[in-house]
Amino acid sequence: MQILALNGNPRKQGNTDILIDEILRGASSNGHQTEKLRLYDYEIQPCLDCRRCKQSETGYNCALKDGMHEIYPKLEAADVIVFGTPIYWYGPTAKMKLLVDRLRPFIASRKLEGKTGMLVVPSEEGSDCCAPLLEMFRMSFKYLGMKTGESILAKAYERGEIRQSPGELERACKLGASLEP
Ligand SMILES: Cc1cc2nc3c(=O)[nH]c(=O)nc-3n(C[C@H](O)[C@H](O)[C@H](O)COP(=O)(O)O)c2cc1C
Repeated sequence: MQILALNGNPRKQGNTDILIDEILRGASSNGHQTEKLRLYDYEIQPCLDCRRCKQSETGYNCALKDGMHEIYPKLEAADVIVFGTPIYWYGPTAKMKLLVDRLRPFIASRKLEGKTGMLVVPSEEGSDCCAPLLEMFRMSFKYLGMKTGESILAKAYERGEIRQSPGELERACKLGASLEP
């Protein structure tokens, strides 16, 4: 199975990064193929609502020319997509939101249908503050015909602080090892 992780945090070696690595470590140990993308390494322009992606003549492609055209085929090839983002003001980071807005071609193409989306979300306040973000992703996955997988919602604030919670790291690793399409 192909697991694609999208890391939407700007801090290198941040809590999101560490938790994603644990999930992927577990997944590789179980024979899955894994890849992690750092969204801040890609240019992702905002969706312009031009609606070209709704027209089948263009193959349901996005008209904007940027890093998303490297990411689109990877999304299509994945069985499980891990969306990793810290909580920023009770939602995802701006970069992750840019990516989610650009999933619009998949409404018409249905090419994400049947895939599993899962979330990796560290925050200062912990799981209690994640409800708005969880709902945003749950409804978006549903709209795209995706399944919502298990999430990792972890409490951590400083860079790398999650390493002081071995239980959370173990949970992430076990979740990765248990992934099924
Ligand atoms: C702009 C900004 C907004 C934030 N908003 C919240 C918030 O609403 N609730 C919360 O619990 N933590 C908030 N945080 C803290 C981060 O979620 C927390 O530090 C997280 O561990 C960062 O993850 P990272 O190490 O992967 O970058 C915010 C941090 C920043 C920089």
